[in-house]
Amino acid sequence: MSELSQNNEVKKEKKKISLSFIQPSGSITLGNYLGALTNWVTIQNSGDFNCLYAMADLHALTVRHEPADLRKQIYQGLATLLACGIDPEKSIVFLQSHVHQHAELGWILDCYTMFGELSRMTQFKDKSAKNADNINAGLFTYPALMAADILLYQTDFVPVGQDQKQHVEIARDIANRFNGIYGKTFNLPEPYITKSGARIMSLADPTKKMSKSDSNVNAIITVTDTDNEIIKKFKRAVTDSGSEVRMGEGKDGVNNLINIYSAVTGKSTEEVEREFEGKGYGDFKLACGEVVADRIRPIREKINDYMNNRDYLDQISAVGAERASIFAQRTLDKVYKKVGLVVKKHN
Ligand code: TYM
Repeated sequence: MSELSQNNEVKKEKKKISLSFIQPSGSITLGNYLGALTNWVTIQNSGDFNCLYAMADLHALTVRHEPADLRKQIYQGLATLLACGIDPEKSIVFLQSHVHQHAELGWILDCYTMFGELSRMTQFKDKSAKNADNINAGLFTYPALMAADILLYQTDFVPVGQDQKQHVEIARDIANRFNGIYGKTFNLPEPYITKSGARIMSLADPTKKMSKSDSNVNAIITVTDTDNEIIKKFKRAVTDSGSEVRMGEGKDGVNNLINIYSAVTGKSTEEVEREFEGKGYGDFKLACGEVVADRIRPIREKINDYMNNRDYLDQISAVGAERASIFAQRTLDKVYKKVGLVVKKHN
């Protein structure tokens, strides 16, 4: 990278930093879209932040996968970010594995992360219950690598869904511990979670969150689903024996659909209740399917276009990785110095 563009990177640094990643462990869902990606785009377009958004491909190795599927999902994830409105001219977009500093800081932070705190992580408990035959060390130390993702860039805000709050908090705890020992090294990040869309539930079991890795295709809406598939899945969505479109206790299915409708249309939940007064669940489910299909359609079409142009995706991620590694290396050098390692002389 030329000296001039390095200087430009430094100048841009003054703004607050927003960073978030997504795992390529399956097709991106409506939950990921409403809980995270829409906020990534809003933050990017506000112009008030320097944004870094990436595919957490190293994290995806913690569960068994087919190599060819993973590679396709990495490309598809990248295509989805762009299709949803992440603009590589405005944000730094990259693959985690292309910025080697993540794995390096991840190892160092492993040494400042306690067995007890890792054992308490909800995601570790859930995933080890689901993958009882593969409770590997990476699954256990996952939060330290995620902390490295965040802390390498002196991140201020991490836009995530509710389920990732605990991971951002442990990143903060690790940063605090490290700063306490060596003096201020890392900025303390904060999760950025919006009310609507923060926790989108499964359509088949609305007591569980909608998850990419769900084996029941009817439980999840993905950004590659067709209009018909989306409408069918909403028609089948599990509700309850009532009939009124109202939020309420014990009405997890309807609550979830109201949340989805509200997040997609921008209407408040009260407005949604008023709009469907006197109408039954059938009408409401169809309306949900239609608004979601309308929202997903242009995204799906753009994903297809990008997937037919992998050279472009390679080019975007290479430029993004080069830009990201300037910031990452600066933090890593600082950490090397603090802990007593010898900083490699850069040319
Ligand atoms: P991942 O890939 O599981 O999810 C990506 C983002 O989508 C949000 N999300 C949801 N939001 C609302 N409702 C849902 N049902 C739902 N499901 C997922 C997640 O909260 C997340 O914001 N560990 C992370 C990836 C990661 C990361 C990072 C995130 C790695 N390094 C650094 C932020 C910063 C994960 O597995 O997200």
